Amino acid sequence: MIDLTTRYMGFNLKNPIVPSASPLMENVDAMKRMEDVGAAALVMNSLFEEQIIKESAGLHHYMEYGNESFAEALSYFPEPDEFKLETESYLERVRKAVETVDIPVIGSLNGITTGGWAEYATLIEEAGAKGLELNIYYIPTDPDVSGSEIEERYLEVVREVRAKIRIPLAVKIGPFFSAPVHMAKQFALNGANAIVLFNRFYQPDLNLETLEVEPHLVYSNSSELRLPLRWTAIMYGKIPADMAITSGVHTHIDVLKCMMAGANVAQMASELLKNGIERIGDIIIDLEMWLEDHGYNSIAEMEGSMSHESVAAPDAYERANYMKVLHSWRSDPTGWLPS
Ligand SMILES: Cc1cc2nc3c(=O)[nH]c(=O)nc-3n(C[C@H](O)[C@H](O)[C@H](O)COP(=O)(O)O)c2cc1C
Repeated sequence: MIDLTTRYMGFNLKNPIVPSASPLMENVDAMKRMEDVGAAALVMNSLFEEQIIKESAGLHHYMEYGNESFAEALSYFPEPDEFKLETESYLERVRKAVETVDIPVIGSLNGITTGGWAEYATLIEEAGAKGLELNIYYIPTDPDVSGSEIEERYLEVVREVRAKIRIPLAVKIGPFFSAPVHMAKQFALNGANAIVLFNRFYQPDLNLETLEVEPHLVYSNSSELRLPLRWTAIMYGKIPADMAITSGVHTHIDVLKCMMAGANVAQMASELLKNGIERIGDIIIDLEMWLEDHGYNSIAEMEGSMSHESVAAPDAYERANYMKVLHSWRSDPTGWLPS
């Protein structure tokens, strides 16, 4: 019997496969199915700062002015107890998910400022979530705001959310920091129990006919795994936090790479959205077979075995690798390169 157990955010998990935040989590039945086919924990889709602020502003306006000034218009509004807020239904879904599944349910908040919205961390904890993932997604467009100011803002958000909850906190970050390892360490020192690498930035495209900037959501593929894989391998053993990889995990081979790089779990969204929840079960079987064929008794044995600090040639993760790759272009054996 192969042992696939791992530890993440203080949880003992039966295997390293964790479906990440996605619309699949909008349905508690789907969450239950994910548990049934083998998911070890679930990360809910995010409640966004913008959603919270918009709703509380709207509700405030309605409460303050609606009753007196707009009595006639009021009849068009539903009664407050029927006024189903997105935030309330999110919390309800957390409660229902926690009642329905036995694996840890991790709530998710997405924001970038410090402020009232962070109260929702407490509400998510009170709804029963066993952990919280904080997704910090910020696009710096102001030329007068420096990288260090933005980094400080990130840390403030982490401190504020950390202060609101007792459950473990994971911070999901993007790859665009000048010093990602230092930043990950700062997140850990400011209260993150885990770092989730990396947020996938959905790049907008330009439509030349309509002259509009269009959002563009495409599923990932396994080649996108290389970016988080490299940074996980570099961070392994250097930061006092667990690590999860997200972006490009599609197969059992991808999961094995995550573990060897030093991640505690591998998160998946695109693969499950595209090919179905049942993929979790297939990947678990493939993992067990691979480990058996390669003489491993447990997946824990391989944790970090190919990290920056463990490999014989750590420069493969560094600048030297970049130089080697560029030089290998000249000796391309396909013969199509100009001599
Ligand atoms: C349709 C869709 C919705 C998503 N919603 C969220 C979300 O609410 N919060 C979040 O942190 N990540 C969200 N993600 C990002 C995923 O959790 C994941 O990090 C990303 O898709 C990369 O992983 P993958 O390569 O397995 O898809 C979403 C992704 C997709 C495709």
